[in-house]
Amino acid sequence: MNELNHLAIIMDGNGRWAKRRGLLRTKGHETGANVVEQMCEFCIDEGVAILSLYAFSTENWKRPKSEVAFLMDLLHKFLLSKRESFIKNGIKFNVIGDESPLSDKLKNEINEIKNATAQNSRLKLNLALNYGAKDEILRAFRRFCEKNGGEFDAQNLTLNLSEDSLQTCLDEPTPIDLLVRTGGEQRLSNFMLWQASYAEFAFTPTLWPDFTREELALITAKFKKKDRRFGGL
Ligand code: FPP
Repeated sequence: MNELNHLAIIMDGNGRWAKRRGLLRTKGHETGANVVEQMCEFCIDEGVAILSLYAFSTENWKRPKSEVAFLMDLLHKFLLSKRESFIKNGIKFNVIGDESPLSDKLKNEINEIKNATAQNSRLKLNLALNYGAKDEILRAFRRFCEKNGGEFDAQNLTLNLSEDSLQTCLDEPTPIDLLVRTGGEQRLSNFMLWQASYAEFAFTPTLWPDFTREELALITAKFKKKDRRFGGL
């Protein structure tokens, strides 16, 4: 049986879910936000150590201004409403991605909740915000250079550069075991390219607001029985 240490989810299909009901796309995001708690509960019950959720990509800024503003406000409200339950349930909250362009209001809430949950250890929840895998790898390389004497110490950089040393500079260094994408599309959309190098993939047509812990349980049961060879025999 495979161990599920790191589960990642691309939460897709909110807009279509809303459209099919004659509702605004924003209603889909709002309903989608309510699914997150169930996923955390599942992970805690099943002993999953890390849950990474794709909430807002570096490319999502291209959406209409009003949708971006709604998502940012929703994220802020989500964090405010979940702070106590994260503390109580042992969830260590973390953000992956470049936080710098986020509003001060959102950044402050992120910092508060990160600090309040820093000692928790039942589940690490990574929320990907302004996240792009290529951007993460670039930032990791910059971090690596800073740690290794800066851009002028070329010899030191070359000596110390390895897959392992660069990996430790990523926002999240742990490899993904299982990557789930809801909403029917079968693509990675610039999500955790490095960490997904040997991930198992599961794609479901279910739109994110309709996704349940029962469906996740079926997907993870299948994952546990897979033959994972990591390039070996
Ligand atoms: C994809 O649906 C979803 C997003 C771009 C954002 C994900 C956001 C949420 C699940 C809600 C907010 C989450 C939190 C944690 C507060 P889409 O709009 O691309 O759907 P579509 O493909 O049907 O248009």
